[in-house]
Amino acid sequence: MRTTTAGLTVRAPAKINLHLGVGAVREDGMHPLLTVYHAVGLYDDLSAVASPDWSLGLAGEDYIGSAGVPLGGENIVDRAAELLAAHHGVAVTGDLHITKAIPVAGGMAGGSADAAAALVALDRLWDLETSDDDLLALAARLGSDVPFALVGGTALGTGRGEIVTPVADHGTWWWVVVLSPDGLSTPAVYRHFDELFPDAPATPPPADELLAALDSGDPYRLAAAMHNDLQAPAFDLRPDLELRIAQGESEGALRGLVSGSGPTCVFLCESGDHARAVAGALLADREPPVVLVANGPVAGAHVVTHG
Ligand code: C5P
Repeated sequence: MRTTTAGLTVRAPAKINLHLGVGAVREDGMHPLLTVYHAVGLYDDLSAVASPDWSLGLAGEDYIGSAGVPLGGENIVDRAAELLAAHHGVAVTGDLHITKAIPVAGGMAGGSADAAAALVALDRLWDLETSDDDLLALAARLGSDVPFALVGGTALGTGRGEIVTPVADHGTWWWVVVLSPDGLSTPAVYRHFDELFPDAPATPPPADELLAALDSGDPYRLAAAMHNDLQAPAFDLRPDLELRIAQGESEGALRGLVSGSGPTCVFLCESGDHARAVAGALLADREPPVVLVANGPVAGAHVVTHG
């Protein structure tokens, strides 16, 4: 028996890219990718309550940049609601609220997580029973990283990142996540990639060693295989990031990498205790100011409470 939902909360994870291979810019301005997404335990929660009207609110710590999130109809969650409603021919209704913990403009797909959470929450709230295939197609229209935020775990991303295929991952990987007080514009990092690498291949090469490392569960092997083509342009735009990576590695992390287009940096550690020790050492330096510990892989957007 179906029951009408009065309200629910959906949780969606941040992502990092364990591998980010970028090809030459396409005619539509997007870049072909071969990436390995990894969902980590840093989440935005989106609650949705039945209402005849539409509203969207947001709360989050200042240090993740939540003041910079657009509201007033300009949020990716508004677009997700409009797209899902149009797909089914229903009205856009509900009181939605995001509790943000994923850094804004941090290269961890926080906006994409919110969009994925909204698709899952509104599908339930409006009692639509959208198929997984349709949800993934709607997600792809919202942004390159949104389908992965639905799927979670560890997955290969191709196309412009929107074609997502889960991969074998036999590790529980521990990360130190170092935030930056200032965001970095994803389009600006891609534009600088084009300047630095005018001869980038049409199709980025495979990431076979990284996939084998994930399958092996060996953190040293994974550390050696991690790669990000956007790291060089991100370093050029933000030289402090190169120092930050060196700082984390000198504190004992197995490997540091810029997350996606940055400026968040992630550091792979051997275990939870090791990650907490590295995070503690970085915090003792008092610079950078915000250091978190998270593990992965974790689930994609999922319901955590029913109303
Ligand atoms: O797809 P999404 O909205 O997340 O992309 C944001 C911006 O990042 C795009 O407008 C584009 O400038 C850049 N991008 C890209 N190639 C991709 C993904 C994103 O150039 N594969």
